[in-house]
Amino acid sequence: MAHIQLNPSLLGALSDKVVVLTGGATGIGRATIQELCKNGANVVFGDVVEDASRELEADLSPKAQFVKCDSSNYSDQLNLFKTAFDKHGRVDIVVANAGISIPQDIFDQASDITQEPSMKEVDINLVGSIFSARIGMHYLRRSGGGDLVLVSSIAGWKECGGLVTYTASKHGVVGIMRGLHLTATPENIRVNVICPWMTRTRMVLGIEKGWYDQNLPVNEPEDVARSIIICATANRGTDGQTHAGARLPFAGKMLHVAGGESYEIEDELKNLEPFWLGTENSKILAKGQAYLASEGTSWDTTKSY
Ligand SMILES: NC(=O)c1ccc[n+]([C@@H]2O[C@H](COP(=O)([O-])OP(=O)(O)OC[C@H]3O[C@@H](n4cnc5c(N)ncnc54)[C@H](O)[C@@H]3O)[C@@H](O)[C@H]2O)c1
Repeated sequence: MAHIQLNPSLLGALSDKVVVLTGGATGIGRATIQELCKNGANVVFGDVVEDASRELEADLSPKAQFVKCDSSNYSDQLNLFKTAFDKHGRVDIVVANAGISIPQDIFDQASDITQEPSMKEVDINLVGSIFSARIGMHYLRRSGGGDLVLVSSIAGWKECGGLVTYTASKHGVVGIMRGLHLTATPENIRVNVICPWMTRTRMVLGIEKGWYDQNLPVNEPEDVARSIIICATANRGTDGQTHAGARLPFAGKMLHVAGGESYEIEDELKNLEPFWLGTENSKILAKGQAYLASEGTSWDTTKSY
């Protein structure tokens, strides 16, 4: 694990950068937009909530622009990115942040099996992030490269009882990073994912008091915003300068965010693979993955479903 601390001198790299962010009306998204604009970035953000978004847009005018956008709707996301590109002529940073959690346990014995459960968590958290990543990659390529930051959760890698669908959706967001970063990095697009633990937003209403009583670590939305900005700026320093604790190139990383601090955990997971998978399994796995990634290897693309 590497403790990553923001190097404030890298904040200058945000000046005039164009950022597209989903889920900006409240919480982590809102705090990230405020920090980005404070440091000179132009942000075009989407959300389904209009009043709070319009208020933020007016506060930060002309640096922030709101576009009504349901992240689970592909045309809405196309429109969000197109608005940013048409206005600014480029997109440098994409933050896939929109998310919800539905705290009803559809696996509870008492739940009615005849009622089809809501899959909105999958639609917004996972499908919406895939849409942001796909459209974001297109515009980042057109701009010569940039940064894609995905917002997962502690539920992106850890067991979280009672939140099965949310947990599955957030594991999927980590999967976007793992599926994409190997091919994105050579295109000069860095893909990273952050996994916040408990953060004081409306998402955690209900569990707050007990949490504070136990004296467990809490993030403020601004702390998680800092973690997003760490990912978005780590590779933007001159002469190899980066954030304290970060290893370059800063791509394919996963940040655990707890108690206001950011910790990179993906590198150590990889380093320890021979330990938890077994040396021989790990060696053979590397050979198989190298084959799949090698030039000329292709899945049967004629299959249809
Ligand atoms: N608060 C936490 O403890 C915590 C922990 C881990 C991860 N997260 C993640 O952080 C992200 C931000 O959540 P938050 O804690 O700031 O909560 P929040 O509810 O304050 O913010 C979520 C934002 O997403 C927006 N949104 C919801 N559905 C949308 C849709 N279909 N299209 C576009 N926007 C939509 C909401 O209107 C809101 O502005 C989420 O992805 C969440 O899963 C939060």
